[in-house]
Amino acid sequence: MKIGAPFRFASFLSLFLFLIFFFFAQNVCLAKPMNVIDKCWRRDTNWREHRQRLAKCSVGFAGKMTNNIGKGTIRYKVTDPSDDPLDPKPGTLRYGALIEGKTWITFKKNMKITLQKVLLISSNTALDGRGVGVHIEGNACLVIYKASNVIIHGLHIHHCKAQGPSSVMGPRGKIMSLGAMDGDAIRLVTASEVWIDHNTLYSCQDGLLDVTRGSTNVTVSNNWFRNQDKVMLLGHDDGYLRDRGMKVTVVLNHFGPNCNQRMPRVRYGYAHVVNNLYQGWTQYAIGGSMNPSIKSESNYFIAPQSGKKEVTWRKGVDHNSKPWTFYSVNDYFENGACFEETGKDEAKPNYDDEQKFPIAEAKTVKNLTSSAGALKCSRTLTC
Ligand SMILES: *[C@@H]1O[C@H](CO)[C@@H](O)[C@H](O)[C@H]1NC(C)=O
Ligand SMILES: *[C@@H]1O[C@H](CO)[C@@H](O)[C@H](O)[C@H]1NC(C)=O
Repeated sequence: MKIGAPFRFASFLSLFLFLIFFFFAQNVCLAKPMNVIDKCWRRDTNWREHRQRLAKCSVGFAGKMTNNIGKGTIRYKVTDPSDDPLDPKPGTLRYGALIEGKTWITFKKNMKITLQKVLLISSNTALDGRGVGVHIEGNACLVIYKASNVIIHGLHIHHCKAQGPSSVMGPRGKIMSLGAMDGDAIRLVTASEVWIDHNTLYSCQDGLLDVTRGSTNVTVSNNWFRNQDKVMLLGHDDGYLRDRGMKVTVVLNHFGPNCNQRMPRVRYGYAHVVNNLYQGWTQYAIGGSMNPSIKSESNYFIAPQSGKKEVTWRKGVDHNSKPWTFYSVNDYFENGACFEETGKDEAKPNYDDEQKFPIAEAKTVKNLTSSAGALKCSRTLTC
C-alpha cells in the first residue's frame, strides 16, 4: 500500500487542478460581455454536441431558424477544400450546399476554399464554421438564389472576384446558366428567411453583402465588415419595385476600419439598424434612394478624424412623394458624428414575438460587438 497512497494523491491533485482550471475558464467566459444572440449558445461548454441549438438564437426579421433543424436533418462535413462547379465531389462544400432537404454543414479542419464559380446555396442549409478557420475566396462567392431558410455562420469570406456568365450545377443535379456576377462575398437573389451571423467579410471586388430582387426576412448580425468600398446593399436597383416589401435587421455588426459607404445603402423597403459599431467611414454610413424607411437605433457612430462627419446620405430626394423616413433614436455620436433625420414617422419594425429582442444601450455597443466576425472557438471550452 506504500505505492498506492502517492498515486491516489497524484490523481486527486490532477482532478483538483482540472476543476480549478475548469471553473476559471468558465468564469473568464461569463465575465465576457455577451450580447443577446451569443448568450443563447456561447455559454454552453458543450456547444459542439448541440450545434443545431444555434438555429433558435436568431432575432430580428429572420425570426427563429427552426426550419433548419429537427427530424431528418442531414449532417454533412466538408473534408475536401477543392471545387468543381460542374461535377462537385462528395466531401466538398459545393456538394453539401446542393443537398435537398435540411442540411447542417460543418468543416473538418481549417481550410481555404477557392471557388471556381458562384456557389449556390439551396434552401434549408446551414453553413456552420465554428471550431475551425474557414476561408472562402475566388470567383463571385456565395449566392442564395430563390432559396429560403439559410444560415451562414462563422466563415471568413474575402477577395471575391467578378465573373462573366457561367454554368454551375444547381439543385437536383441540373446545370444552370447564370449571368455575370459582380464579385460580392454574399448575394441574396429572391431569397427569404436568411440569417448571416458571425462572419468576417472584407476586400471583395464589388460589395460584401447584397440583398436583391425581392429578398426579405433577413437578419445580418455579429459580422465584421472591413476594408471595403461598398459594404452592404439592400434593394436591387431603383427600378425594382418588389423590394418595397423588403425587411432587414442589421444588428450588432462591426463596420470598419476602412469602410467607405453603404453600411447599409437601402432602396425601397425597411431596415432596422440597431446596436452596430461604426468605426468611421469616408462617404457615409447609412444611406439610400427611392424612399426607404430606416430606423437607426442605439448604434455607436465614430466619425472619421477628418472629412465627412454626417452619418447619412440621400440620393435624389423626391419632395413630391412621401417624405423619407430616416429616424435615429438613442444613437451615440463620437468625434462630431451627426445624423440628419427626415420624416416624422418613427418607422417601427413591428416585430412579432419570435423576432423581437432587447435593445442594448448605445454606450455598451463597443463591448457587445467586441467578438463580431468569425469566432475562434477552442475544442473543449466555450466559443
Ligand atoms: C416574411 O415573414 C412574415 C412574418 O414575419 C411572413 O408573413 C411572410 O410571409 C414572410 N415572407 C417571405 C417571403 O418569406
Ligand atoms: C465592457 O465590459 C467590461 C467587462 O465586462 C467592463 O469592465 C467595462 O466596464 C465595459 N465597458 C463599457 C463601456 O460598458
